[in-house]
This record gives sequence, structure tokens and C-alpha cells, in this order.
Amino acid sequence: MSRRLRLVVTRALPDAVLAHIRANYDAVIHDSDTPFPADALVAAAQGADALFVTAMDKIDRALIARLPDSVKVIGTLSVGHEHIDKEAARQRGIAVLYTPDILSDAVAEMGMLLLLGAARRVREGDVLLRSGTWRGWSPTQLLGQDVTGRRLGIFGMGRIGRTLARQARGFLMEIHYHNRNRLAPDLEAGATYHPTFAGLLAVSDFLVLAAPATAETRRLLNRETIAQLPPAAIVVNIARGDLVDDEALIEALRSGRLAAAGLDVFDGEPDLNPGYLALPNVFLQPHQGSSTLGTRTRMCELLLMSIDAVCAGAPVSNRLV
Ligand code: DGY
Repeated sequence: MSRRLRLVVTRALPDAVLAHIRANYDAVIHDSDTPFPADALVAAAQGADALFVTAMDKIDRALIARLPDSVKVIGTLSVGHEHIDKEAARQRGIAVLYTPDILSDAVAEMGMLLLLGAARRVREGDVLLRSGTWRGWSPTQLLGQDVTGRRLGIFGMGRIGRTLARQARGFLMEIHYHNRNRLAPDLEAGATYHPTFAGLLAVSDFLVLAAPATAETRRLLNRETIAQLPPAAIVVNIARGDLVDDEALIEALRSGRLAAAGLDVFDGEPDLNPGYLALPNVFLQPHQGSSTLGTRTRMCELLLMSIDAVCAGAPVSNRLV
């Protein structure tokens, strides 16, 4: 294609990426950190070749039906793609692209940060210092849990889960996982496979949720499954908030059935269950998994390159539909 591609971008992006887009595309950019309303997105899409969206944009069947025929590609700046109705896109002949792999290190690092932060009561230590009430070192101050050598259960041993396993091996953690299918030995890398979620729960001193949001994973961590974790286990969620029944998790954290949780994602974001805010044993982050400048820049580059390729009729490996 010799003319410049017409692109709609729904969110502010790193400066260098925006400069690149402005220089190389005919772009309508919603250069803001507020959501782009659906009506505005449809209006901006008139005559556009591609939409550059994020996981905060709900691209459902109704919205896809309103897109003009000019739109050939929807690319999402995320590995999660539950916010896009892929079947509706396929029926309209619109390609859907996403950004797998490139963010696995950053998201797994967030998983380790949450795991360590929850285990070592990092938030409480920070609050203690900032309160001005710290009276110095004591043998019993904020006693947390050991991480080294403990059992780590990973639910969802995809790219992010496997990267987290690799990082956790640096802490000599014993890796267990549950997946729909057992991995090949080279990918498993010595981890123990549990054919059932219950089997994984029983051995998880630390449970990390790293699976996509689907009908099957919705509210998978609930009263019944929390009860199958070892006493004083620690739960980490780097996947999606709707894998968790918030009320059940809050109750278990309040009662001490679970020692702590580290959460980066929440049901109904940007809202979250206020029960979490009152608990000292929850280490919270505002959906920051892939949020490093390098990772976000590489995600944008991958998405733009693949949008260009698909618009030029070339195959790409990060195409969902
Ligand atoms: C992802 O890439 O899916 C992140 O969670 C951002 O949505």
C-alpha cells in the first residue's frame, strides 16, 4: 500500500511512539488517559484502516457492527483479548492482533514483586515508616513468610506462567502447575503437573493466577477452592480480576485463613472491592504488569509493525483472527 495508513489510537502512548505514529500514519489519536467513548471511536473510525486499542476498550459485537468497512484490523496493546469479540470481527473480515510474548518478563516480574511484597509484608513496613511511629528493629516486627524453597503453584502455564516459573527458580521455589494440558518436558522444565486445579491448590504455599479470563476461569478462586489451599497460603493475581470471587478472598484474608494476597488486577476495574483497601495483608498495584517504558514501547512497536503487515496482506504471528 503506497498511501499512509489511517489509524485510530484510543489512548495516550509513550512520547516516542506517538511521535512515530504522527510521522508515519494519518492518525486520529485520543491522546488522553481517559477512555475513548464508543461513539467517538466509531466516528473516528470513518475511513480508517486500523484501530489501535487497549484492554480498557470494550470492542463488543455491537461496536464492531458499527465500524465502517474501511477498518481491516483491530490491534490491542495487550496479551489479554477478552475485551474483543473475535467471532464478530471474523464475521466482518476484520483481523484481530495482540501483543503476546513481549510482555512476559515484565508481567512475571510483577508476579514476583507481588509474591515477595505479600510474603514480606512490604506494604505494612512502608506504612509503619511513613507513620513516624517506628521504634527500631525488633525480633518480632512484621514477621512474614519465607519464599526460598517454598512451593509455588501456577495456574496457567502459558508464556507468562513459564516466565514466572523461571524467575521463581532463582528463589529455589518448587514449581507446580495446572493447565488444560500438560506441557512438553522442555517447557515444563522440571515443574510438577497437576491434572486438576484441586491438586494444584493442595500443594500451593503460594498460588499465582496467570490464566486468561474465560467462561471456565471466571470466579475459579472462590470459597470452596480457597478452602483447599494450605493454611496461611498466599494468593497472587496477575491475570484478570474476574478469576476471583472478591468477597470470598476478602473473608479468607480477614480471618487469617490466607496469610496475604498480592493483586494487580481487579474485577470491574478501575473500581475495586473496597474490602481490599481496609486489609493490611493485601499488597495492591493498579494493573501495572507490563508497565515499563521498554516493554510498553516494544508492545507498541510490535502492534504497529503487525498492523502494517496485515494491511499489506502479509502474515503475522500475533494474529488471533
Ligand atoms: C494485558 O496485556 O493483557 C495487560 O493486562 C493489559 O491489559
